[in-house]
Amino acid sequence: MGDTRGSVQVIDTHAHLDHERFRDDLDDVIARAKAAGVWPVIEVGSDLATSRAALGLVRRYPGLLAAVGIHPHEAKTASDAALETIRAMASEPGVVAIGEIGLDYHYDFSPRDQQRRAFAAQIAIAKEVGLPIVVHDREAHADTLAILKSEGAAAVGGVMHCFSGDWKLARSVLDMGFYISVGGTLTFPNATSLRDLVARLPLDRLLLETDCPYLTPVPHRGKRNEPAFVVLVAEELARIKGVNVHEVATETTRNASILFRMANLLRLNAHC
Ligand code: NI
Repeated sequence: MGDTRGSVQVIDTHAHLDHERFRDDLDDVIARAKAAGVWPVIEVGSDLATSRAALGLVRRYPGLLAAVGIHPHEAKTASDAALETIRAMASEPGVVAIGEIGLDYHYDFSPRDQQRRAFAAQIAIAKEVGLPIVVHDREAHADTLAILKSEGAAAVGGVMHCFSGDWKLARSVLDMGFYISVGGTLTFPNATSLRDLVARLPLDRLLLETDCPYLTPVPHRGKRNEPAFVVLVAEELARIKGVNVHEVATETTRNASILFRMANLLRLNAHC
């Protein structure tokens, strides 16, 4: 327990490296991630432009992976043509998921009926192309769960990114075969209930993420988040679970490789 010698190999399953805050030093950010043992990174789109940018990053950084989709904030842009573009992008090399998709009733940047429609439509696309989904749910637990069920999302599986739900929601999505992803929030001093929840969740269903540039873990809060910092989340998860950080790394990497169907991931990771 507590042995942190040797390099840790983990995956950042949720990043937004296309964000303007990475514009000037992305090569350095990627180099720091790899040096910290964080690879691959999954770059997640939130509209057509950022999904397209994710495909560009796949070409620029070999091994980097992508999710394409329309975020609930942007659901008002999810026209039939836009959804058709997402469907087309989903079969591009390096795309491992549809996301991020879901519901956000905290900000309500798009009308709720449009959020629900875009969410359902993109679950249908995921089922059509055979990719898992990356789900954003903020203050919309009941509707998120209802849509996951009514649209048959269990057929493709997915991850509840930056999980903010309670035990009941966690239990329901785990029963559907979903994974639960935790990020920098796990290290926040006031996140006691999240830590208590995570302590009860099975390690074989957890993923690690940064959601960078947002949600920077302690002790870097106030600064920009970046993939290398996901190691701090792994360490916090290890502390909560009372296991070695290497066990957290191995388990969460295996989980990600199963969910995102990255057959070569474990091998790649062992050699990077
Ligand atoms: Ni995100």
